[in-house]
Amino acid sequence: MPMDQNALKRAAARAALDELVDGAIVGVGSGSTVDLFVDELAGQRARVAGAVSSSERSSRRLREAGIEVLDLNEVLAAGRSVPVYVDGADEIDGALRMIKGGGGALTREKIVAAACERFVCIVDASKCVERLGRFPLPVEVIPMARELVAARLRATGGRPTLREGFVTDNGNLILDVAGLDLVDPVAFEAEVDQWPGVVTVGLFARSGADVVIIASPQGIERRTARSSTG
Ligand code: 5RP
Repeated sequence: MPMDQNALKRAAARAALDELVDGAIVGVGSGSTVDLFVDELAGQRARVAGAVSSSERSSRRLREAGIEVLDLNEVLAAGRSVPVYVDGADEIDGALRMIKGGGGALTREKIVAAACERFVCIVDASKCVERLGRFPLPVEVIPMARELVAARLRATGGRPTLREGFVTDNGNLILDVAGLDLVDPVAFEAEVDQWPGVVTVGLFARSGADVVIIASPQGIERRTARSSTG
């Protein structure tokens, strides 16, 4: 019987345990694949000195698993390092550039990822794409800038829709943008990030993953930024 997507997510999550640095703090992303990673981590919680988390949802799950959630500012102020960040993605290309934010946690994910030394992305094979952009790109915006940013996104050829009934952990809104031709995701990320009212664009292209763990029915594959093409 073919493995279902959830089983593949769990396989990728379990494989990420091999990437942990024993005794260190771990950075934890958000989403259903990360939920499964936290479940797996619960069985090995003595290996980590706590976690820094990218969402209220992940923080709750970590605490339920008996893993201490540490404040990122306090960790950094104490000069402590976070060697590994584990997170999922909505899409990842051959150069390990990603679209993230399907769960709406993109801003804190970018912050925590930037504070960690190594980004370990965990996905099932359905997330691997040749070119980013089939998944609508999430953009977190300050509420009063919603229409301004939406108009600019339309001018770039995108079709933004407001994520109805959703408020981010930071009190902001999400525009999901379909129809973008992301031929140069690095340039697009840099441009949209500068627009007034944009908090975060869900492209992780300027700084992508360092390694991706891909689970498919054939097994687990690890690709690093160096070993990948694209
Ligand atoms: C949340 C994210 C998630 O990593 C992304 O949406 C993938 O989620 P899932 O593991 O549920 O497929 O970026 O903001």
